[in-house]
Amino acid sequence: MAVLIGSNKIKTAVFISGNGSNLKSLIKFSKTKKSPIAITLIVSNNSKAKGLNYGKIFKIKKRVLNINNSNLFDTKLLSILEKYEIEIICLAGFMKILSKNFIKKFDGKILNIHPSLLPKYKGLKTHKRVLDNNEKYSGCTVHFVNSKLDSGKIILQKKVKISKNETENSLNKKILIQEHKLYPKAILKILSL
Ligand code: GRF
Repeated sequence: MAVLIGSNKIKTAVFISGNGSNLKSLIKFSKTKKSPIAITLIVSNNSKAKGLNYGKIFKIKKRVLNINNSNLFDTKLLSILEKYEIEIICLAGFMKILSKNFIKKFDGKILNIHPSLLPKYKGLKTHKRVLDNNEKYSGCTVHFVNSKLDSGKIILQKKVKISKNETENSLNKKILIQEHKLYPKAILKILSL
């Protein structure tokens, strides 16, 4: 496997809307020698996203895009990504649905992490629905993004066992721990030379 150093790494933007724990784990991974990516931009649609603090902590440029009009949002976003020469986008808890037009422009270059064993439990309130259905297992999935929600080609998945007294909160914590390992692994899987 080739090791990409410094500016040779693939310029990557991480899109967030909330806590940014996956962002943090991706940043840590990106600083390792074996990482093919460098995170050079953080994008959020929510100016209050806690994860934006990681921009300050790790000295990574951040941009907040709070625009409702879909065409305007796309135009602005595309110009920002072009400016920073972004090649890969990692969605990490990004709660805005990207337009078909935007996805086409970055076809095969947008990844997402979802807290279920896709194709089961696409969409929101995943853990609640999993527990309501008395599932024995859940997990997380890293997949390519296509124009259908949580439906692109699966890159990697990790299964977790649901405990007897599992709550939404405990399941969320358990799965997040696995997400933080799975996202870097998925990146290595598709980008290792
Ligand atoms: C994660 O559970 C991820 O799978 C989902 O949104 C959550 C984001 O968490 N898409 P965080 O902001 O990375 O902590």
